[in-house]
Formats: sequence, structure tokens, C-alpha cells
Amino acid sequence: MGHVTNPAIDAVQTEPAVRTGTAASTAPRPESAAGGGPPLRVSVVGTGYLGATHAACMAELGFEVLGLDIDQAKIDALTRGELPFHEPGLPELLTQHVQSGRLRFTTSYEEVGAWADVHFIGVGTPQKPGESAADLRFVDAAVRSLAEHITRDALIVGKSTVPVGTAARLKDLLASTRQAAGLPGTVELAWNPEFLREGYAVKDTLTPDRLVAGVESAHAEDILRQVYAKSLAEGTPWIATDFETAELVKVAANAFLATKISFINAFSEITEQVGGDIGTLADAIGHDPRIGRKFLNAGVGFGGGCLPKDIRALQARVSELGLDRTMRFLAEMDDINLRRRDRVVDLAVQVLSHSLHGSVRVAGADGAGSVPSPAAVEILNGAKIAILGVTFKPNSDDVRDSPALDVANRLYTAGAEVAVYDPKGNANAAKRFPRLGYVNTLAKAVIGADLLILLTEWDEFRQMDPEDIGRLMDRRTLIDARNVLDPSPWHAAGFTHAALGHRFAPDSSG
Ligand code: UGA
Repeated sequence: MGHVTNPAIDAVQTEPAVRTGTAASTAPRPESAAGGGPPLRVSVVGTGYLGATHAACMAELGFEVLGLDIDQAKIDALTRGELPFHEPGLPELLTQHVQSGRLRFTTSYEEVGAWADVHFIGVGTPQKPGESAADLRFVDAAVRSLAEHITRDALIVGKSTVPVGTAARLKDLLASTRQAAGLPGTVELAWNPEFLREGYAVKDTLTPDRLVAGVESAHAEDILRQVYAKSLAEGTPWIATDFETAELVKVAANAFLATKISFINAFSEITEQVGGDIGTLADAIGHDPRIGRKFLNAGVGFGGGCLPKDIRALQARVSELGLDRTMRFLAEMDDINLRRRDRVVDLAVQVLSHSLHGSVRVAGADGAGSVPSPAAVEILNGAKIAILGVTFKPNSDDVRDSPALDVANRLYTAGAEVAVYDPKGNANAAKRFPRLGYVNTLAKAVIGADLLILLTEWDEFRQMDPEDIGRLMDRRTLIDARNVLDPSPWHAAGFTHAALGHRFAPDSSG
């Protein structure tokens, strides 16, 4: 049984750089296999944020790539060079490599099974409905389908985020399925977690901070080193390890990031009560290199398709392992995070009651959370609120577990008239909550508004001119739920300004 490829790691490029006119399109072709064979053929199973990005970036690195998805409509769109989601820089790569023929898409496992040397799995591992655990059915199905269709030597490489122990289980599934299928070729499994951030997905894939490979043979490591030869030549740290460590590295990283955010947001709860400046506090502790300033931006908290579900899946997994107490602190992090949303609604009640009635009313001990209190409903009912941002973070159209969208929906549920504007997220938000009022410009959102709430820190919102905005609104009131606006010009324009992590004391702050 011949090996798929060679152990060469830093081989010289065999073909000149491909030039198509942009700086990002000058990737060299990857080196040929030992003995002068053709470069590795790469398949990517799953064409969501992770898979589509990985496929396009593999093509950018010079590999022949076949992306597979079971969703025919998605495959049709990608084949036309249309990206079904927003990700800066990715449409250009997709168009370029689809046009050149280096990147193709299919729904056929038979086709990828007969063709590729390396199969990356980038399917979703969402939270199971009504449970904390991850739903692994898509990963299982991908491994099973590949095992049933691969007809040559190949390496399957999991990239999806999975609970520890999954790769070992999938290895057994692979072996038993291959045995039953009786197909030619030796197929091995590796786990290579992905750390890309939405909004920076192309950059993070092409120039990662580190590469982690859970491998069980030198052969599997060799193949992965060939795939990532360019990054390795540029000095990217390479961590070859076992399956369990590779799986845990990914969830540990996300758990740490979530903890950092909730840590600073917990301090917000203190500064909101006693005074103080949460941004200055974050700057000051962030100067300590052991702590670092990144991911200490206080605000409405973390959302998206990764951090929230990953900390829940980790708790579920350690419980299964009988280690219930080990990750209990993550439940606290989750609570702190969700309380930020209550706080925005509560603050809206306070700001509006001050603006409309001249007194600051607090929504009550039960807060104005997912079920708004009667006091909150009384103030919010009929209030016109401009909602700026519904995606879970800027430069994305993703509204999965978005704190901003959750807050918009809570305010609407409490009787407020919301005008929602997001530069990219309205369409996805409308699919989830069709009854909210969506508008397609910032100006339309703020016209006639009693209150403006900035919930996602898009550049367009950071650059707002207080006078221009103030002229359009009925009342000059603002909540900065991401702590990105300098309060001084807003105060100067006569705004009542409130922000998460800051005490709301309108009569003393002006
Ligand atoms: C996250 C990780 O950062 C990636 O490394 C990882 O690969 C990815 O999950 C994944 O598991 O696939 P992502 O979900 O794209 O990436 O978003 P982040 O940039 O991590 O932001 C997550 C949330 O935290 C956002 O809602 C953001 O607004 C919030 N956040 C971030 C804060 O509230 N404060 C901060 O200081 C930083």
C-alpha cells in the first residue's frame, strides 16, 4: 500500500507563483510529492464558515480542491462563485479559484472518495436543542460517508470543534466502516483544530498563530506538514500531539477567551454600582503582559456560533467524565455573559424613564431579563428605540446567539417599537425574528427615536457624528453597549449618554 505522499517538508517550489493581479493571489503552487508525483489533492467536507474558508484558502495555497456539502443549493451557489455568507476577502478568493478551476464543489462522496489525498472535515457541531452537549451527528455522518466511499490511500483530518474523546471514537468508526465496506486503500484519521475568527477568517487561515495536529503516525504528520508547508516555512509554531490534546487545545482556547470577557464584564457589574471606568481598568491590568489587553473589552458580551456553545459542551463533556466540578466556573461565565443582556434592557428602562419622566426608574429586582418585569414593560411600551447592530460582532453577518439580536427582541417583546439596522446582519436577523422593524440605513433607524442603543461595534457606528444623529432623533439619549464611543462629544451635543460598565448618573454627568 503506497503512501499518499512524501515526507518532504520544506521542498522547493516546483512551479512559478500564480499571478492574477492582487497581492493575495500570489500563492505558489505547493510542492510535488516525493518521486515527482502531483501535488496533494484536498477535499473539504462542509462548506459553512469554516469549510468554505478552508477550501478557498487551500486553493489559494495552490492545492487542487474539491469542496463537498450535502446542501445542493449551497454547492450551486459556491460553484457560481457566490458566497452564502459575509466574510471579508473570501469572495475574491472564491471567484478567483473557481474561475481558474482549482476550486470545485460537489455533493458526491463518491467523487471526493476516488479523488482526494486529504479530506478535511469542517462541518458544524452545534449545541443540541435543549441540552448543553454538542451535536456530533454531522461529524459522525461525514466520517462514515467518507469511510464508505474512499477507494484509495487517504488521510481524514477533522477540523470541527469536538468534545475530547471524539477522535478516538471516530477512529474506531472509521476502522469498522472500512472493514465492512471492503474498499481498497488505507485511510487514517488526524485532528487539526481550527482557530479562525469570523471577520478575519482568510487571514487566520493563511497565516495562523499556531498549527495543532493530533496525529497517530509520522505519515499523518508528514501529510499535514505538506499541507501547511508555507506557514511552517514562515515560522508558524507547529504542535504535533495526540488526539486528546488536540481536541482539548481548541476548547481550552475558547473557554479561556470566554472567561476573559466575562471576567471584565463581572467587574462592569461593580463599576456600574460604585463608579469607575471599566475601560481604564482593562487598560491598566492589560499592561501586565501576563494578562494582556486583548479580549478585555467590556460590553454586552460574547455570542456567535462558537464561544457560547463550546463552553456549554465542555461542561457537558466533563460531567460525562464524572468531573462535574472541574468546569463549574464556566457556568458562572455563561451567567455573567447572559446578565449583560438583562443589564442593557434595564439600562434602557432607566435612560428612558429619566428622559421621559425626569426620574431614573430601575426595572426591579427581577431585572428586565428574558421575561421583562411589569415596570420595564410600562416604560418600554411604545418607546421608539433605534437598534444599531444585530450581528454577534462586526464584519460578519452571523446572528447566531447574538447578544445584540437578543436584546432587540427583548425590547420588542416588552412593547418597544424597534428600528433595527445592521450593515450586514438584517437579512439573517429577519429570518430569526421576522416581526422586528428592520431598516436599511442608519439614518432611518434613528429618525424619531427616543433612544439609540449601539449593540455591535461596526465602524459606521463608531464614526457617527453626534450632531447629525441628534438632529434626527426625538430625544437625545444613547446607550453604548460596546464601550466604543467617546462620551464627550455626545455630552457636548446634549445627549444623555449611558454605557455598560459605567454608573448611570445622568444628573451628575451632564
Ligand atoms: C472564536 C475564537 O476567537 C476563534 O479563535 C475560534 O476559532 C472560533 O471562535 C471558533 O471556535 O470557531 P469568533 O466566534 O469568530 O471566534 O469570535 P470572537 O472574535 O472570538 O468573538 C466572540 C464574541 O466575543 C463576540 O460576540 C465579541 O463581540 C465578543 N467579545 C470579544 C467581547 O465581548 N469582548 C472582547 O473583548 C472580545
